[in-house]
Amino acid sequence: MPDRQASSSASAKKTLPDAQTVTEVRHWTDRLFSFRVTRPRSLRFRSGEFVMIGLLDDNGKPLLRAYSIASPAWDDELEFYSIKVPDGPLTSRLQHIRPGDQIILRPKPVGTLVHDALLPGRRIWFFATGTGIAPFASLLRDPQTYEDYDEVILTHTCRELGELEYGRRLIEDIRQNELLEELIGKGFADKLRYYPTTTREESPKMGRITDLMRSGEAFEDLGVAPLSPETDRAMVCGNLAFNLELKDMLEGYGLEEGANSDPKTYVVEKAFLD
Ligand code: A2P
Repeated sequence: MPDRQASSSASAKKTLPDAQTVTEVRHWTDRLFSFRVTRPRSLRFRSGEFVMIGLLDDNGKPLLRAYSIASPAWDDELEFYSIKVPDGPLTSRLQHIRPGDQIILRPKPVGTLVHDALLPGRRIWFFATGTGIAPFASLLRDPQTYEDYDEVILTHTCRELGELEYGRRLIEDIRQNELLEELIGKGFADKLRYYPTTTREESPKMGRITDLMRSGEAFEDLGVAPLSPETDRAMVCGNLAFNLELKDMLEGYGLEEGANSDPKTYVVEKAFLD
């Protein structure tokens, strides 16, 4: 059992503050990887929230960044999805972690991409670019998402096809997952729509989601009307330019930005990078 050995030797050298042990690492492309770590027994979080994670730097100081938790709240472990930033202080090191290694995890989850920050609605849109899909990977496996809404639409825009793979597998797994069906109810996955697009490599659907919405093509493809504050709710997570552009568009449809303390019709959060 090489995994056991790896983690017991790692726990023997448990010197980091708030240390958790890496249990699995997957490299999706040369720019993207995901990893799983042990979950502190006391850690409770709401789907869509983020925590600070990191490693010690050369001087033994914690080097921390915000990472959305990609795993569902009912999972025994925590999953994260990360970009590898060339020369990024944290990700240039983090990309080399292996099962049995330790990372620092500050167990104080926070964030605005939470159900509590939205008023009730009929349809929810999750708009992501790149690693911005991470909080939605959690929300898409949260029973509340399907209890609260009749329709759940995930859009994911990436440069290349390989960058869509994490999301494609996630959706495939959700649609086949018997545990989820038991937890959420038979046929829950019928509510889920997936709309992946690429911008720099040929794929079945090309273009930025913002452009595809502006032209009406995305709504036509999905067979739904453009967003309306009466029926639609939205969560946005991607790069800064994307967030700003989509925010403008959502306000153009009449949606208003909500917060934990003041729920409204959309919420937005930056996909965190080095
Ligand atoms: P594009 O290739 O046209 O820049 P990145 O990897 O740079 O974070 O980008 C992830 C995806 O987000 C890319 O497909 C990129 O498209 C897209 N994107 C970047 N800016 C915007 C924006 N303002 N609106 C919509 N999509 C965007």
